[in-house]
Amino acid sequence: MFRSLALLFPLANTAFAVYSFDPLEHLAGISPYFEPADPPLDPKPPQGCNVTRAAYLIRHAAIYANDFDYEEYIEPFTDKLKNTSVDWSKAGPLAFLASWETPISDEELEDLTKVGELEAFQLGVDVSLRYPTFKQPKKVWTSTAERTELSAQSFIEGLAEKSNETERTSVPESEAEGADSLTPYKGCPKYSGSTGSKQSSQYLKVYTKPIMKRFEDLAPGFNFTANDIAGMQELCGYETVIRGSSPFCSLDVFSPNEWLGFEYTNDIQYHYNTGYGNPISGVLGFPWLNATASELLSDGASQDLYASFTHRELPPTVLVAMGLFNNSAWSGANDPNATMPLTTQNYNRAWMSSRILPFLTNIAVEKMSCDSYGFDAGDFVRVLVNQSPQHLSDCADGPGESCSTSKFEQFVQERGEKFGGYTENCQPEFTNSTDVLTIYDNA
Ligand SMILES: *[C@@H]1O[C@H](CO)[C@@H](O)[C@H](O)[C@H]1NC(C)=O
Ligand SMILES: *[C@@H]1O[C@H](CO)[C@@H](O)[C@H](O)[C@H]1NC(C)=O
Ligand SMILES: *[C@@H]1O[C@H](CO)[C@@H](O)[C@H](O)[C@H]1NC(C)=O
Ligand SMILES: *[C@@H]1O[C@H](CO)[C@@H](O)[C@H](O)[C@H]1NC(C)=O
Ligand SMILES: *[C@@H]1O[C@H](CO)[C@@H](O)[C@H](O)[C@H]1NC(C)=O
Ligand SMILES: *[C@@H]1O[C@H](CO)[C@@H](O)[C@H](O)[C@H]1NC(C)=O
Ligand SMILES: *[C@@H]1O[C@H](CO)[C@@H](O)[C@H](O)[C@H]1NC(C)=O
Ligand SMILES: *[C@@H]1O[C@H](CO)[C@@H](O)[C@H](O)[C@H]1NC(C)=O
Repeated sequence: MFRSLALLFPLANTAFAVYSFDPLEHLAGISPYFEPADPPLDPKPPQGCNVTRAAYLIRHAAIYANDFDYEEYIEPFTDKLKNTSVDWSKAGPLAFLASWETPISDEELEDLTKVGELEAFQLGVDVSLRYPTFKQPKKVWTSTAERTELSAQSFIEGLAEKSNETERTSVPESEAEGADSLTPYKGCPKYSGSTGSKQSSQYLKVYTKPIMKRFEDLAPGFNFTANDIAGMQELCGYETVIRGSSPFCSLDVFSPNEWLGFEYTNDIQYHYNTGYGNPISGVLGFPWLNATASELLSDGASQDLYASFTHRELPPTVLVAMGLFNNSAWSGANDPNATMPLTTQNYNRAWMSSRILPFLTNIAVEKMSCDSYGFDAGDFVRVLVNQSPQHLSDCADGPGESCSTSKFEQFVQERGEKFGGYTENCQPEFTNSTDVLTIYDNA
């Protein structure tokens, strides 16, 4: 597909690295799926190890646009564009706006795009190739929104020899399910979807100011707002997954530094929304970690592969529950707010939402049977985020920084002491709320 075109144009073998920059890898929640080209550890199982069971938590694939992005940023810009008397032919890199038309209409909001469908299918194929010895799963789980259901369906078609023999199992998104769903934030009154906007709007002002001035010079009278700039940058992502490419992605329209400004604004938002800046994050992510650990470690699991589809909110909270991408980790001090300053970027941050929650982002927890040089033979667990193996703090005593099952059990228990107690912490209105995710029981 379009992203692999890069293979046709390999960089010349010069002694000097050519600076290259792909905005699509810096679009936070609207980045099309990508796997970092330079993972810190090899995605292949470590020497002497075979993966014997795996669980995947997957965000749905690319959609036309989400309601909030559309109403807040994109539509106000495209409405203004329809009505303007600006002469775009004189507007340099913005000249394309003279004839550009929006690819998004009200009817398609939140729908999966064809590119999204293709990417979900491709992930299914990739996963089947990663685990050639696995039995075809009887079930794949999904929350009930159309975009998650359809992503799960395309994944199954890509994964399974006989796709009719893997059941797509729907898990209600209702508040009443509490922790027992793939959308536990919905039943948690202590979580609010808008948390983080106040903080991120501060950096939005900082990075868009020079862009607004530059654009005003190119197109006097359009009165570009900070939200117009964000909307135009979002259109780069959405238009690409709808039409295959977008003029908004051009580095003549926005420079690399301006894309990094967009990305950091989003990183602040997600840090306070579903990351370390929100004390409820780990509580929301823990039930999936706990249920997954039970399935992977149990003697008699009925499936080799447990795959579940959800929305953008759940994967980052699971990462917090596991202590991954923690900006504070190397500073020693636990002051999450200080790690994401609101008026200047922390370029060394670990919390980069483009890597954490792009479309189709996936967290894999694998159980491996190992007989590896220098380690006792036995079972080990490792975590991969978009194919990139992660180092779990205090849980890396095995080959390739994997974690022995006994250590992993202890790790999950300790994380539970920190982040267990969904009901107590969320205080849901439903009195039948529980702290555990049971959808995989009796699979
Ligand atoms: C379009 O422009 C007209 C005239 O300037 C104005 O009255 C109207 O409110 C504008 N509509 C939008 C959607 O901005
Ligand atoms: C699935 O389809 C195949 C062939 O298309 C058929 O042989 C098989 O019986 C079907 N399985 C189920 C469970 O319907
Ligand atoms: C709580 O009760 C409601 C019905 O009132 C039901 O729909 C829901 O599944 C229950 N939740 C749990 C976690 O059992
Ligand atoms: C831009 O602002 C000026 C001054 O406030 C106003 O006269 C003009 O109508 C605005 N243009 C648009 C397209 O809103
Ligand atoms: C993040 O790292 C800091 C510093 O190492 C640590 O104190 C804190 O507990 C970590 N947070 C989580 C949620 O694991
Ligand atoms: C971090 O920021 C949040 C939201 O602004 C605030 O409620 C909290 O008190 C801050 N924490 C610290 C330790 O400053
Ligand atoms: C891994 O699989 C290979 C091929 O089936 C087998 O020879 C080897 O013994 C296995 N290793 C372990 C540790 O299970
Ligand atoms: C983890 O899950 C098990 C059931 O598999 C449950 O007994 C335990 O209470 C859960 N831990 C926490 C902290 O919720």
